Amino acid sequence: MLDYKKLAPSLLFIFGGSGDLNYRKLTPALYNLFLDNAMPDKFAIVGLARTDYDLEAYKSHLKEGIDHFSRNKDNNGSWDAFSKNIGYVKLDVADQTAYPQIEEIIQEKEKAAGEKMNVIFYMAVAPQLVPVIVKNLNTLQVCADTACTRIVVEKPFGHDLESAREMNKMLLEYFEEDQIYRIDHYLGKETVQNILALRFANSLFEPLWNRNYIDHVQITAAETVGVEGRGGYYETAGALRDMIQNHILQILCMIGMEPPVSFNSNEIRNKKVDVLKAIRRIPKDQVLDFAARGQYTGGWQQGEQVSGYREEKDVNPQSTTETFAAVKFYIDNWRWEGVPFYVRTGKRLHDKTTELTIQFKKAPDFAFPKEATETMRPNRLTIGISPEMDICLRFQSKRPGQAMILNPVDMVFNYKDAYNGEEPEAYETLLYDVMDGDSTLFMRADQVEEAWAIVMPILDVWSSRKPIDFPNYSPDSWGPEDGEALIAKDGHHWIIQPPRIKKI
Ligand code: BG6
Repeated sequence: MLDYKKLAPSLLFIFGGSGDLNYRKLTPALYNLFLDNAMPDKFAIVGLARTDYDLEAYKSHLKEGIDHFSRNKDNNGSWDAFSKNIGYVKLDVADQTAYPQIEEIIQEKEKAAGEKMNVIFYMAVAPQLVPVIVKNLNTLQVCADTACTRIVVEKPFGHDLESAREMNKMLLEYFEEDQIYRIDHYLGKETVQNILALRFANSLFEPLWNRNYIDHVQITAAETVGVEGRGGYYETAGALRDMIQNHILQILCMIGMEPPVSFNSNEIRNKKVDVLKAIRRIPKDQVLDFAARGQYTGGWQQGEQVSGYREEKDVNPQSTTETFAAVKFYIDNWRWEGVPFYVRTGKRLHDKTTELTIQFKKAPDFAFPKEATETMRPNRLTIGISPEMDICLRFQSKRPGQAMILNPVDMVFNYKDAYNGEEPEAYETLLYDVMDGDSTLFMRADQVEEAWAIVMPILDVWSSRKPIDFPNYSPDSWGPEDGEALIAKDGHHWIIQPPRIKKI
């Protein structure tokens, strides 16, 4: 059992209650928190959407989501016990006259609880609906109570720097920054949070964590799936907006940040935003040297025939949207000067893996005979974020025998072996934190805007210079040649850990 502290009574309103996010992620996460005894003693969850459900039909729809997507399935009547707390209201979000019923529900639930509840509004809706919901919510009395009301906003948070600024301005007109929880689900992943523990709770790594010892850093977030029926959304996004502007830059911040003086949420976020501010804005005339893009063709993926991106549903047959992006970043500060951070992401790649590599500089090898060092490799720390959850440290060892031959070997820490697969899923952690009022793992307005400012030169150049070679990579590959060239021209190659079999 994971250890959670008891939370104050909470009432969650999920806008988009009949949608996919609630079905696949939110309800399963809340259910798992319930099983882990981590939900408040008094709570209620109300789905709001346009679909015509009666309560039983709504619950059985959500139960189906539990059967498919929850890490724990229904047992011993636990779903019944949990779902007693679920309600459903049919509501057109644009209709202001429908909102007073929300206030009535709050009063009714608080009366039943016999005390005040934290009220959370979760925007599990398309981003264009958020402004109208926020405006309508603010006609309600409850929103005047800044201490007990919170709003959760999903990505995409804006389409570019300007729209993200507008969105922040709009939200901040109605809510205080402390009430706004901008989700980046990668920050809820155990392995991502563990980066801070690894760096700051061990005396071993931090002294080496800088340009004197680190040669370069890599972040790969590869997927085998295509756009999975989300062509309409993806056409407006592309890989750079979908993954790099948010998830990957957030991971990069965790690797690059200075040690915090406390784990206070603003302190952590200040340290991260310092990294974002120090990331070099790529001059527009150098974008093609610092970034590469690609789009998948049709072909074969793990024995299955798959369509090309341009043949996917809701995708323009001449689309120039990138499904692969790779970028080289520099953090221009004292710690990281001159250390490249190579990042890449893509759909329909050879493997589903998110992993980080810290490549250390080569150790001096002059003392060893030449033949001893032929297989010698620099130290390397690899952090598996998902699905492998592990940390591997590569170092040199002497191969057994009379001769002095050096060989790289791995020392492996694996979550599954160490913790019996108890890790909460990202949304469990994030929903718990929202109920707890802890915003450390959420994006502050300035973080979102800095992250957009970093990718804007690339987006601008890419949209003005349409790719002429799309589609340019096959499914089941590691992306286009340009992605390989981006790193190869600096004398490096992309690193993917082989299946984790080497243990010492
Ligand atoms: C989402 C993107 O934010 O992250 C998706 O919109 C992507 O396109 C997903 O598939 C990847 O998340 P994970 O947790 O499976 O790596």
